[in-house]
Amino acid sequence: MSIPKPVYNPPFNVTRASHSVLTVKDLAVSRNFYVDLIGFIVSDEDKDTIYLRGVAEACHHSLVLKRARGEPEAERVGMRVFTEEDLEKAKAFFDKAGLPAKWVEVPYQGRTLHVSDVSGAPIEFCATMDVKPRLVVAFEYHHGAVPQRIDHFQLLVPDVQKACEFWMSMGFRLSEYISPDGTEDLLFVFLQRKGNPHDIVFAPGTGPRLHHAAFGIPESYHFFYVCDLAANMGFAANIEYGPGRHGPGHALFVYMRDPDGHRIELFNTHYQMMDIENEPVRWNLSYMRTRPWGFPPQRKWFEEASIFRGVAPREPAHKGNPMTLERFLLEQGA
Ligand SMILES: [Fe+2]
Repeated sequence: MSIPKPVYNPPFNVTRASHSVLTVKDLAVSRNFYVDLIGFIVSDEDKDTIYLRGVAEACHHSLVLKRARGEPEAERVGMRVFTEEDLEKAKAFFDKAGLPAKWVEVPYQGRTLHVSDVSGAPIEFCATMDVKPRLVVAFEYHHGAVPQRIDHFQLLVPDVQKACEFWMSMGFRLSEYISPDGTEDLLFVFLQRKGNPHDIVFAPGTGPRLHHAAFGIPESYHFFYVCDLAANMGFAANIEYGPGRHGPGHALFVYMRDPDGHRIELFNTHYQMMDIENEPVRWNLSYMRTRPWGFPPQRKWFEEASIFRGVAPREPAHKGNPMTLERFLLEQGA
């Protein structure tokens, strides 16, 4: 195994992680979680769909909730490309790779391309969206965790190396990675286009499945405030992991499960990663045992994720033995 070479002149210009589309059993319950607790802004809604954005976003939506027909699922994750011409180039790229790619109409978005990546994950690209007021200094609309903007997605995939090679061939750069000590095996990869450490993260597991969508929040205070508010609103059990401090990226974080089990990450701080001499940062897997403070996540954080509609997850060739909280406590003799 080796780190794929970066592609500095990509076949088309992806600019950033853009949005995800989730299905939920009860829109009113989800609205209570995402709007009344977390603090998302409602851009539009009807009886079947709620379109949400963060307070720093001028795009129409970064999270779409649709009424589920059956079990809740992730429908798709969205990436923005810069121009309509980039969309055409993306279509040609996926056609050449022999992967599904078709034009679709999506409300509030410009022309949209639906594709499946090399792992089978359903991705959509668009160059434009309807524009809404950016509410970053409209403090009367700030509430809960005050989500600012979408930052990245994390997907579980059965072959992280293969996913990394494919996304790097689209021009994504490897910012950080976790490898077993003494190897260059890519266990976790953090890939980016927008110039901070993440737009999409691939982790090993049964997949493709959506592990989480992550949204930036403004202050460390908001981690504790949103957890207190969650407890008061009956969502204490939805706080899954954190507040804590990441190793890779060094952000503060809290992971929450929505009423349908979809996971979101709220986090703050990130550094820039855009200069040509910036090399990927390596983390040894043993870091999870030797981190300066904090505990590993529970086993369910590693194993549970949202199924993509119509995509049967595949098992990885080798099942890992992640440093779960349960394993950590056992090894500590707790
Ligand atoms: Fe994340």
